[in-house]
Amino acid sequence: MIKIAPSILAADFLKLGEDIKSIETADYLHFDVMDGMFVSNISFGIPVLESVRKSTDMILDVHLMIDSPSRYVEKFITAGADIITFHIEAEKPESIKKTISKIKSFGKKAGLSIKPGTPGELVLPYIDSLDLILVMTVEPGYGGQSFIYEMLPKITEINDMITKQKLTCDLEVDGGINLETAALCIKAGANVLVTGNDLFNAKDRASLIFDLRSL
Ligand code: DX5
Ligand code: ZN
Repeated sequence: MIKIAPSILAADFLKLGEDIKSIETADYLHFDVMDGMFVSNISFGIPVLESVRKSTDMILDVHLMIDSPSRYVEKFITAGADIITFHIEAEKPESIKKTISKIKSFGKKAGLSIKPGTPGELVLPYIDSLDLILVMTVEPGYGGQSFIYEMLPKITEINDMITKQKLTCDLEVDGGINLETAALCIKAGANVLVTGNDLFNAKDRASLIFDLRSL
């Protein structure tokens, strides 16, 4: 089943509650945290997540684009995260398994994300302990960028690893997703679509969510 994860980075923060209501038929609410270090941009963090948690029952899919993410796992979980995804490039290799276990020790789902330049095979050592793998289809840091088509073989490669090992791990894509690029990602094996600008700029958000899910 295809799941849709609207990224509220593209929402209007003055009317965030209303914007969340408008996408509530989606599956996950994607929450992009940026620290100005791992990526050059700064977005929002714990107090905003606490408010979002109070305003919706949606599954909160927190995408940490921050250095040494293990430092903040517990804080984001206390603030309401259901899924915590961190970047393989942001954590010391010897700490990656520990960070995954830490997220799971709170009964939450753990995801690992890779930037466009990171080879897909690097997720292999962790794949059987992950609930989600996030393949970035733009450079992390900003919404509204164009989809990088060269990521499609990487999606296929990771989907093959998941099916070969008969795992139930979600395969999420993030960046430049619209009806055209979503169809390509699904064909390549993705089952969770993050969408920011294309969805929030749509005239009828609920119907776009329906159309994306029906691809
Ligand atoms: C980029 C973020 C994305 C972004 C997607 O670093 O991780 O979630 O908000 O936005 P669009 O769909 O506009 O590319
Ligand atoms: Zn994201």
